[in-house]
Amino acid sequence: MNPLQGKRIVLGVSGSIAAYKAADLASKLTQAGALVDVILSEGAERFITPLTFASLTGRKTHTSLWEDDAHVLHVGLGEGADLLVIAPCTAHTLAKLAQGQADNLLTLTALAARCPVLVAPAMDGGMFEHPATQANLETLRRRGVQILGPAQGRMASGLVGLGRMLEPAEILGHIRLTLGRAGPLAGKHVVVSAGGTQEPLDPVRYLTNRSSGKQGFALAQAALDLGARVSLVVGATAAALPTPIGAERTDVETAAQMAEAVLRLCQEADVLIMAAAVADFRPRQVRAHKIKKERETPPPLELEPTTDILLAVAEARRRLGRPAVVVGFAAESEQLLANAQDKLERKNLSMIVANDISAPDAGFAVDTNRVLLLLPGGVVEPLPLMTKGEVAAAVLARVVRLLVEGAGS
Ligand SMILES: Cc1cc2nc3c(=O)[nH]c(=O)nc-3n(C[C@H](O)[C@H](O)[C@H](O)COP(=O)(O)O)c2cc1C
Repeated sequence: MNPLQGKRIVLGVSGSIAAYKAADLASKLTQAGALVDVILSEGAERFITPLTFASLTGRKTHTSLWEDDAHVLHVGLGEGADLLVIAPCTAHTLAKLAQGQADNLLTLTALAARCPVLVAPAMDGGMFEHPATQANLETLRRRGVQILGPAQGRMASGLVGLGRMLEPAEILGHIRLTLGRAGPLAGKHVVVSAGGTQEPLDPVRYLTNRSSGKQGFALAQAALDLGARVSLVVGATAAALPTPIGAERTDVETAAQMAEAVLRLCQEADVLIMAAAVADFRPRQVRAHKIKKERETPPPLELEPTTDILLAVAEARRRLGRPAVVVGFAAESEQLLANAQDKLERKNLSMIVANDISAPDAGFAVDTNRVLLLLPGGVVEPLPLMTKGEVAAAVLARVVRLLVEGAGS
């Protein structure tokens, strides 16, 4: 379950041209299962209407301190919230927050709030860099307010600078990270590998595979949702997948680089989830120059094995006693169960996630997956067809149980 499900989020919107992006954020939060109460400043109402937010959230939009039930409204909204996010936050609202002013429903609610407060500034570069704004930001930071962005880029004025509000998807990622922080994996370090590897033949050609990286990225997000510190080791992916907010990302190309990164990170990890499709073989010889068809007959493709990362992890784990839990993936086109069972035992895994890549709705590139979870002792748990996000949540739920039971090794 994602950490936004059933959470009460107060979304404050102030008078910036970026207010239109707050509608997208309200929609994304609602779709993720949160109950979203929107408060518009008077300035925000110049840019966007309460009706827009009421339509997107299915809840009343609040605009005034002087609403009928206002004497308890700000306290109710502020104290009942799991998180307050102000996006966009103008220079003016920032200044009021820093001074503790409470002359509108938004700033009054911020004073009453006892929950985490996240602020996404949006303003022209000059306004953002002004010492007054910087001092206000510093005051808020010292008080524990999280400042999101701003980003560098083109602003409505036509100028380019630091002051653009972060994109709603990024703000959503920060909210998710904050709400997940106290989850059952808090204090645990999870390493996830994702994508395929590329094994060079010459400076322009390489051998690779069909891995899209989607399942690995979903696993990283699911681990973050449960409060883990996440290291994501990424090989080649089909598209430029956005890094889950909060994950520490290492990019690699070859199986050797993947092995180096994973083994290094595993020295202080509690969990390894090896979702990457690592090449089993690589060209024995890598040419320094491009192989030219005019000069050569087709060269024979001689291959040699790469390092088996999970075997190397098993060896290191015997010495170091960590990671406590190691999860492998088996992508098979035949004899799925037998091959996965064999890999589970040979590589001394805590669990293996097996998927039949010959099915059109599972495995590489698609957004869905149908997997079997195999555990030592012949335990086989088939999961129905799910999105890769749902598979990731199911795998992580199992990881939590393995850690709690201490049955990881
Ligand atoms: C067209 C227009 C765009 C504006 N955009 C911004 C902005 O992006 N950031 C900002 O800090 N102020 C911006 N302002 C100024 C604020 O709207 C103004 O300071 C207002 O008092 C903010 O009040 P509020 O923070 O209570 O919403 C803009 C004003 C106008 C007229």
